[in-house]
Amino acid sequence: MGRDTPMLKHDDLDLRYKEFIERCPEYKTTLIIDELREREYPQLDREKHVYLDFTGGGLYSRSQLKRHIEFLECCVMGNPHSSNPISAFTTDIVERCRRRVLRFFNADPEEYAVVFTANASHALKLVGEAYPFGNSDQLLLCYDNHNSVNGIREYDRVRGAVTRYLPIVPPGMRVPEEMLERLLSEGGDARHKLFAFPAQSNFSGVHHPLEWIVSAHKHGWDVLIDAAAFVPTNRLDLGRHHPDYVALSFYKMFVYPTGVGVLIARREALEKLHRPWFAGGTITVASVQADRYFLAPGSEGFEDGTLNYTSFPAVEIGLDYLDSIGIELIHTRVTCLIGWLIEQLLELRHGSGRSLVRLYGPADTILRGGTIAINLYDAGGNTIDHLLVEKRANERKLSIRTGCFCNPGAGETALELTKMELDACFEHAEARMMLEEFRQCIDTKSTGAVRISVGAVSNFADVNIFLDFVKEFREA
Ligand SMILES: Cc1ncc(COP(=O)(O)O)c(C=O)c1O
Repeated sequence: MGRDTPMLKHDDLDLRYKEFIERCPEYKTTLIIDELREREYPQLDREKHVYLDFTGGGLYSRSQLKRHIEFLECCVMGNPHSSNPISAFTTDIVERCRRRVLRFFNADPEEYAVVFTANASHALKLVGEAYPFGNSDQLLLCYDNHNSVNGIREYDRVRGAVTRYLPIVPPGMRVPEEMLERLLSEGGDARHKLFAFPAQSNFSGVHHPLEWIVSAHKHGWDVLIDAAAFVPTNRLDLGRHHPDYVALSFYKMFVYPTGVGVLIARREALEKLHRPWFAGGTITVASVQADRYFLAPGSEGFEDGTLNYTSFPAVEIGLDYLDSIGIELIHTRVTCLIGWLIEQLLELRHGSGRSLVRLYGPADTILRGGTIAINLYDAGGNTIDHLLVEKRANERKLSIRTGCFCNPGAGETALELTKMELDACFEHAEARMMLEEFRQCIDTKSTGAVRISVGAVSNFADVNIFLDFVKEFREA
């Protein structure tokens, strides 16, 4: 149960825990994480925080900070763009970090290159702005994409390509496979076709199968995986799956350092991209008078300006740290906790017999991660505003998230907002619509959901506290 749980004033907690372990005995193999939490994240329980926003960002451990400071204290690092000894040392660290990232994801360095970016959005933008879209080319997106993937459609529009969307279907929020097959086979005469989907939905937690990559390749598509929400608690094995491009942020995995992400790209796929500009660090030579430049080969051609180089030792430390726990162990823990929470939430009823909770996404733990999206309903069947739920949660130091989480397609699907309703809202907007105006425009419907996400160091007490919080909305 973890040593933190007895301080909770739940008489029946031991009983619940017993029941939980009967349902998910594998959880016991993860108990080492309770000790880790006590040692590495003492501020969490000391400050009485209940953190349930791991899809928003992970948490950093004490030892990560300590090891990074120790490294910086004993070494001298400087701008890597020259040959002086300090610069050369820094270049070695950067290159070592590239190799470490590839090793973590089991990617063959002959096949894949690592481009360091500021975050996942930056990695996605690098692909979007440089993918050689032309007339009749195609971009296939998924309703479940984050806005940082949706935004790629603006580049294809500019260049005359066509965007299509794969739908997701409630209540499970999965893509109908026959639709995927159809859209993949309808690539037509397009010379360049890019298919972008999230490995894990940041809305519902659904895992979209990585096996799609093979089908997409068979139909001549390049594949971009948004792995931002997937990699913190799941193994991404690039020795087994071979997407062309993968985008992610390290803060989602181990928080420290923030401000570093990667685009992991197949070397061949990187060659296919045509950057719309050049910058310091990305060229071999450039001339003002000759009005020419040559892009540097491989990763370098995509890394604008000076890298956040003092952070790279911390990236290695973060990856070592995750390896020391084991991503599979984290996955087991998260799966047990979220499975149990789903079951408990769905059992909650008002005195009237009506359900208190509506879940958007799979109600089991098959092909899903540790993220759930829900709404609460009163005894009369009306949605309880997610902003009210958030306000009450904030008062209890319960960190959850509400809204659509930058995933409008999943939000619109879950909340049953129609194209007609959405078109009307955008049509009536004058210059720029603010979120509050949008909420008023969709006045009779909910415009958001409540998201709870567990991560590496979540424990049984965290999900119980959330469960008890939800019970407070129950009417007799
Ligand atoms: C699935 C997914 N993709 C992309 C992003 C964007 O990541 P970042 O803000 O690090 O650029 C997020 C962030 O929440 C995400 O959850």
